Amino acid sequence: MTRAAPIGVFDSGIGGLTVMRALMEKMPSESFVYLGDTARLPYGTKSAETVTRYAVQCAEAVAAHGVKLLVVACNTASSVALPALQKSLAPIPVIGVIEPGAEAAVAAAPRGRIAVIATEGTVKGGAYMRAVHARNPNAQVTQQACPLFVALAEEGLTEGEIPELVAERYLAPLLEGREQPECLVLGCTHFPALAKTIARVAGPRIKLVDSAATTADAVAKLLKETGNAHDGAPLPPRFLATDSPERFARVGEIFLGRKIDPDTVELIDLQKLPHTAG
Ligand code: DGL
Repeated sequence: MTRAAPIGVFDSGIGGLTVMRALMEKMPSESFVYLGDTARLPYGTKSAETVTRYAVQCAEAVAAHGVKLLVVACNTASSVALPALQKSLAPIPVIGVIEPGAEAAVAAAPRGRIAVIATEGTVKGGAYMRAVHARNPNAQVTQQACPLFVALAEEGLTEGEIPELVAERYLAPLLEGREQPECLVLGCTHFPALAKTIARVAGPRIKLVDSAATTADAVAKLLKETGNAHDGAPLPPRFLATDSPERFARVGEIFLGRKIDPDTVELIDLQKLPHTAG
C-alpha cells in the first residue's frame, strides 16, 4: 500500500458527499474514490442484516480500487455494519462516522444533554447512544428518526415553508420540557444540507454537531500517526454509482459543493463483482 493510494468512501447514495467534501477540505493532497449505492438507497429504512450485506458489497467494490483506508460515510451502515466491514476489509482500516460524531457531541455538551436526529435504522441500532455513553456514562441522550429529511435534501428542498414545517414536527419532542438539549447531532449524511432550517427551528442555544468534520479530523489523524498521509498532488476524484450517473452528478454537486462532470461517474453493478459476500 503506497501513501499515494486513494482514500475510499462509500454511502447509500449521494448524501455521503458531505463527508467527502469535509475530507477533501481537510486533506487536499489525498486522492479519493467514492461509491454511492444509489440503486438501493435508502438504507435507513432497511433491516440491519440487509444494510450489512449491502455495505460489505460496497466496501469490497471500493477496496478493489487499492484504497489505503475506507470511510463509511453512511451513518446507518456505520451504525449497524462497522464490525462486519472491518472484518471483511482487514488489514485496511475502516472508519465510520458514529464515533467521531459522538466525540464531538460529548465535547459540545458539558452537561451531557445530547439529542440525535438520524434515520430509523440508526436510531434503532442505538450506536450513537452507546458511543456517547462510552465517553460520558451520565449523558442523557434523546433520539428522533427524521426520514423525510432524506427525501427533502434529495429534492434540494432545504429551506422554506415545507422543510421548516417538517423540522418543527420532528424536533418538537426533543425540544419540549425544561431540560433542553445542549447540542443536536446531525446523524445522517443528508441532514447537513438542511442545517440552516434545523438550526432555525432548534433555536440559537442548541449547537449543531456535524460528524463530517470530526470524521475528517479522525481520518487525518490516523493517516498521520501511521505515516500514510500523502503530501503530493492528488488525482482527480473518482465516482462510482450503482444507478443513474447523470442524477448522481447533478444532485451530488449540492452535497459536494463543487462541480461533478457526469462523464467521470462510472456505473457499476455490485451483484456482478467477483468477491462480494452475498
Ligand atoms: N446515508 C444514510 C445515512 O446517513 C441516509 C440515506 C439512507 O437512508 O440511505 O444514514
